[in-house]
Amino acid sequence: MAFRLETERLVMRDWRSEDCRDFYAVMNTPAVMRWIGGPQAYEDWEQAFERLQGYSRDFGHTFWLLERKADGKLLGFCGLKRLNYDGAPNLGMPEIGWRLRESAWGQGYAGEAARASLDLAFDRFGYSEVTAVTVSDNAPSWRLMERLGMRERPELAYHDGKYSDLYGPARQWVIEVKAWRTAGDTSQR
Ligand SMILES: CC(C)(COP(=O)(O)OP(=O)(O)OC[C@H]1O[C@@H](n2cnc3c(N)ncnc32)[C@H](O)[C@@H]1OP(=O)(O)O)[C@@H](O)C(=O)NCCC(=O)NCCS
Repeated sequence: MAFRLETERLVMRDWRSEDCRDFYAVMNTPAVMRWIGGPQAYEDWEQAFERLQGYSRDFGHTFWLLERKADGKLLGFCGLKRLNYDGAPNLGMPEIGWRLRESAWGQGYAGEAARASLDLAFDRFGYSEVTAVTVSDNAPSWRLMERLGMRERPELAYHDGKYSDLYGPARQWVIEVKAWRTAGDTSQR
């Protein structure tokens, strides 16, 4: 059955074929793609889109499409996959990731979707830890990791075959189930 989850302001759902063009039309900007290789050819996004659908089939989760509940507007993606980057020392580890269209930045949407994703990772999928990957200069991304209670694991940094020549080492922030549950008891997640 297709995945669909509602949070306070968002719908997180599995991808449909028509999402491929719609997503590319609003997401392939220099600002959105600044730390992930720059704007990409449609053919490259199509391949990424197919991989995202494949993760749903293989694992039951993916970086899901995000829509705003109020008006159905496509906001980006957030969710869970398994780490599969060239050069990473911990291939296969559950990984959280996010990408929002520019007009959706600065409103807490990524955080809202990320908290739902971590709840799912630990409660529904039974993972014991989740990682997130970014580069030093992508402060919006690693600041979100820190706000979620993820902590950097310097020993997991690696030379990413696709991105490190452009941006330097890929760095990883990790949260374990116990820390997530403790945070849930003490903060207003
Ligand atoms: C990384 C990315 C998803 C972060 O988006 P974001 O909107 O900054 O993240 P959040 O959802 O956590 O929102 C936090 C911001 O919203 C503000 N905010 C406003 N209303 C809020 C609310 N109700 N709840 C929480 N934060 C709120 C916060 O103050 C914060 O702003 P600040 O960073 O200026 O202090 C976004 O920058 C992006 O899509 N980047 C391009 C793609 C990319 O690089 N992806 C990651 C690859 S590793």
